[in-house]
Amino acid sequence: MTGVVLDKVVRRYRDTVAVESLDLEIRDKEFVVLLGPSGCGKTTTLNMIAGMDSPSSGHILFDNKPMETVPPEKRNIAMVFQSIALYPHKTVYENIAFPLRMSGTPKAQIDARVRAAAGLMRIGELLNRKPHELSGGQRQRVALGRAAVRDPVAFLFDEPLSALDAKLRTEMRVEIKKLHERLNSTFIYVTHDQVEAMTMADKIVVMQDGRIEQIGTPLELYDRPANLFVAQFIGSPSMNVVTGTLRRQADAAWVEVEGGTRWPLPASAPGADGQAVVYGVRPGDLALGGGERSVPAEVIVVEPTGAETELLVQAGAAQIVVVMHGRTDVQPGQAISLTVALDSVHLFDPAGGATMRA
Ligand SMILES: Nc1ncnc2c1ncn2[C@@H]1O[C@H](COP(=O)(O)OP(=O)(O)O)[C@@H](O)[C@H]1O
Ligand SMILES: [Mg+2]
Repeated sequence: MTGVVLDKVVRRYRDTVAVESLDLEIRDKEFVVLLGPSGCGKTTTLNMIAGMDSPSSGHILFDNKPMETVPPEKRNIAMVFQSIALYPHKTVYENIAFPLRMSGTPKAQIDARVRAAAGLMRIGELLNRKPHELSGGQRQRVALGRAAVRDPVAFLFDEPLSALDAKLRTEMRVEIKKLHERLNSTFIYVTHDQVEAMTMADKIVVMQDGRIEQIGTPLELYDRPANLFVAQFIGSPSMNVVTGTLRRQADAAWVEVEGGTRWPLPASAPGADGQAVVYGVRPGDLALGGGERSVPAEVIVVEPTGAETELLVQAGAAQIVVVMHGRTDVQPGQAISLTVALDSVHLFDPAGGATMRA
């Protein structure tokens, strides 16, 4: 049960800056996800919190106590990795008991704690099996049980699900979220997968090149991305973006794109006539249908998934993705019109990508 603070934490390797002045506050019992592409500094950050690596400068504090002189084994943190390193010749029981035996926990306590951890992960009936007699999901649960058995102050996860198939990944997502609710402990979870981040996190920290791009709840990041990077990293399929020139006339505003396509804006949109802007609209905020301000397009690909249909369309020089509820009878090659949900449009400054606000 610990709050974690990173205060201007920097980690340099000879010629690389892996982490560049990170300021972050993780509250007690919070489920925080560090999200970003490969190489953005997620693992480095996690390792510094665990004490397996040290900041080049800056401080890490647990409940306001500086950690620089506290070695990893004294921080009482549980780490869960992608590769599940269970001892193959030990039973599930002995795998879970191992950290307790190593720390010299009295024998009388070990049995009760192993059974409690196994119960927590619903693997009570598997205690006598060896790892090779378990499914991938069961092995993952044993690893989580072994992490939980020491009653750590925080759990750190480094892409624990990325080696699993899609179905198991979805199951384990739910499992980890339930574990967080049951344990009522601080979880810091690293992933490059925005769906994992969106579905599990209380708070997401979006990182790029060793820096924090934005911190927010999943829906804050989705609805109000601070910049183009966050806008395109969060949400699947990605937000459509086109670059053009902002135009205003009387009460109307739009973005004019090379080739003459006009993407409509609400009159309240920020920016001045003639300004270069990046126009962003999510696939789900487009619909088929005419109207005065609709955008002409031609269907390229139709991808039905049952509940939804994804369309790839050509609008002027841009290829645009549309996600519609339900089904459609439009065909590749067909001319259509796109209606834009005006209050869901995003505008970005092409220099630097910051979100423009009214
Ligand atoms: N031991 C190391 N020596 C030199 N560079 C490293 C070392 N560890 C990580 N890096 C570099 O630091 C950056 C961040 O790495 P990492 O934290 O592993 O990223 P992520 O986990 O987000 O994929 C990368 O550019 C990586 O190459
Ligand atoms: Mg990593």
